[in-house]
Amino acid sequence: MADGLPTVVSDVSRWYATTTLAVGEATGLLTPLLEGGGTAAELASRAGVDRRNAEVWGDAMVVAGYARHDGERYLPDEGVLGVLRGGFPFDLRAVVGLLAPLGGMLPRVERAIRDGTGISSTEIQSNLGALPEQVNGPMYQAFLLDDWIAANPSIEAALQSGIDAAEIGPGGGQALRILATAFPSSRFVGYDLDSNQVARATAAAAEAGLPNLRFEVLDAANLSKARFDLVCAFDTFHHFGRPGAVLDSIRGALRPGGALLVAEAAVSGDPMTDASDPFGIIVYGSNLLYCFQESKADGGAGLGATWAPIHLEALLAEHGFEVAATHPSEAGYLVTRATPSGTRQSVE
Ligand SMILES: C[S@@+](CC[C@H](N)C(=O)[O-])C[C@H]1O[C@@H](n2cnc3c(N)ncnc32)[C@H](O)[C@@H]1O
Repeated sequence: MADGLPTVVSDVSRWYATTTLAVGEATGLLTPLLEGGGTAAELASRAGVDRRNAEVWGDAMVVAGYARHDGERYLPDEGVLGVLRGGFPFDLRAVVGLLAPLGGMLPRVERAIRDGTGISSTEIQSNLGALPEQVNGPMYQAFLLDDWIAANPSIEAALQSGIDAAEIGPGGGQALRILATAFPSSRFVGYDLDSNQVARATAAAAEAGLPNLRFEVLDAANLSKARFDLVCAFDTFHHFGRPGAVLDSIRGALRPGGALLVAEAAVSGDPMTDASDPFGIIVYGSNLLYCFQESKADGGAGLGATWAPIHLEALLAEHGFEVAATHPSEAGYLVTRATPSGTRQSVE
């Protein structure tokens, strides 16, 4: 992109570039390109698409700066596309995969913005499938045990000795699979509102051979019958529409000495400050399109991804919790350990 263009022009230009990438992911053209590339006919045959369209796509990828053409074959620009193969704390290929379904949701988002009723977890899940949680997969692999849990030695020791732990809003259950594998003496349960997520999480736990892990369809505001030593909410609290009711429910479910562990994106919550955060645009944009809308639908609180840094501590205090520790993780998350007021001693 030539320098000196108005920001809106260069942003629109990059929208076309990332949309071209997303079209490649959606149609299957991106995979053969990443696997070494080929002629338009070869890419088309591998993806099962029309040859001339493969050529038009390849040309657009070249102009976008994602590929080059050697006169015969389209080749990936490794320096640019290599990051889609991993090595980043997030799954960037899943981020690209989200762009097409998010684009499809725009008319729905437009309605939600007009009428203010949000978009339910189930509707979002039926549009986006497993992609949002795939984005977080590498982060949990790299940081959950060695950083988030390690920064809370009392929790790590308790998990090693064998406790009852829950995650609320676990999605497909990837964080709980890591915990259940690492701490076989502990028992884990994930409670999610969405039955599709629970079905996927249950199947994945069975496939991983984890008898100490199960999932249930349950509203996190309704934990009343269970008893836990640890409740986790990873990258999920800001989706809740009745956060106060969820905290009351957790407080009622925690055994004496139990703890709540909350991980939320470590943006500041001030848009003027977060404008300089390299991930700010993605956090604020995805918040507008679905995190905020989900919280709006489920009870109307409308928290969203930018809420926690400013309001979490006050809400915890309002609902009888005190913050025992906060850990700013290099993953870009703030991990907060909270305990029901007056019971901090056993989790220090
Ligand atoms: C963004 S996903 C987070 C998934 C997972 N924690 C992760 O990081 O991969 C949020 C999850 O919260 C669930 N959820 C939203 N409101 C809920 C509620 N009141 N009770 C239980 N789960 C809820 C949604 O169905 C969704 O699976």
